[in-house]
Amino acid sequence: MKALVYYYFLTAALLGSGIAHAGATAQAKAGASPGSAPAAPAKSPNPARAVSFTPPPADSIPNDDFGKMVKKGEQIFVHTQEHARQYVGNSLNCVNCHLDAGRKAGAGPLWGAWPAYPAYRGKNKHVNTFAERLQGCFQFSMNGKAPAAGDDVLVALESYAYWLSTGAPVRQAVEGRGYPKLAKPAAAPDYARGQKLYVQHCALCHGAGGEGQASSGKTVFPPLWGPKSFNWGAGMHDVGNAAAFIRANMPLGLGGTLSEQEAWDVAMFMDSHERPQDPRFTGSVAETRKKYHDEPTSMYGLTVNGHVLGGR
Ligand code: HEC
Ligand code: HEC
Repeated sequence: MKALVYYYFLTAALLGSGIAHAGATAQAKAGASPGSAPAAPAKSPNPARAVSFTPPPADSIPNDDFGKMVKKGEQIFVHTQEHARQYVGNSLNCVNCHLDAGRKAGAGPLWGAWPAYPAYRGKNKHVNTFAERLQGCFQFSMNGKAPAAGDDVLVALESYAYWLSTGAPVRQAVEGRGYPKLAKPAAAPDYARGQKLYVQHCALCHGAGGEGQASSGKTVFPPLWGPKSFNWGAGMHDVGNAAAFIRANMPLGLGGTLSEQEAWDVAMFMDSHERPQDPRFTGSVAETRKKYHDEPTSMYGLTVNGHVLGGR
């Protein structure tokens, strides 16, 4: 198939998205400035220097009322379809993108996230609490509705993330947070190369049409695009985020086996397919792109195979 992709990777800067550490950088600079004290300078913590962390074992959740809420959060995170159905609009579970019940380093672990909020996010241009960050996942990644502040679903997820973070330093970079960002690819990501890789390495589980696989109504292999996947506002729609996730974690059990270029190519192929509309849609694809997707790593509003993505 001939791909007509208008892509401008080579001419634009890439690393605009993802997890921001603006505050940490400012602090690091302040810490690094030479002090006037002649003796050994007082050691000030450097929030930008990553420390390693291991979450408590899953079977050590306390056996009390707090522990019950933690357990509930774990269940919601792993079986979102069953335990928070009213807030979900697709076939995904949180764990599909945050592997091993949100414990796996390099797969968006909850223990990497919880100690890092409140934080400013460029996505909505204000300081977000952790709860608001969770609400965003329901709205975008789960293509659903945000639970109201104080809702048990949020309290449970917050409790689970807080418990997983037992002993983690607060406001300090932690190794394994998020998805390990990739450098700009040597060659612009290519649809045709990505398609070939998809058929070879992904279709077996995720389906030839990206539809995933279910068994007796339960998602076994999650859909990567189409009506039951994440929407155009989700972090995974960004080719840079998707490439980072895929390179570290896919094919399942074989993370790290694709080259970085291959991860970019297959991510670009995946994110060049139609999916649910961005809930912030203004009524015009061009305007919505300009407002929310004005980045080289977003395919939203671009034309692929004669189709304007987001415009059906
Ligand atoms: C389709 C994949 C996907 C699903 C499903 C998903 N997430 Fe995420 N999540 C992401 C991506 C990608 C990011 C980081 C993206 C970004 O920078 O915007 C993220 C970020 C987060 C963060 C912040 C991480 C950090 O270190 O700052 C939290 C917390 C989170 N998700 C929780 C959840 C919860 C809870 C659910 C289920 C209700 C969920 N996610 C479902 C893909 C997903
Ligand atoms: C052996 C089966 C298998 C293969 C092969 C595989 N995946 Fe996955 N993939 C999974 C499973 C299972 C999950 C959900 C993980 C979980 O819930 O623990 C997943 C999750 C994902 C997700 C996040 C969830 C979503 O629906 O968006 C993406 C993106 C993804 N895979 C992309 C790929 C790509 C790209 C390839 C090929 C390079 C690939 N996968 C190969 C089984 C597989």
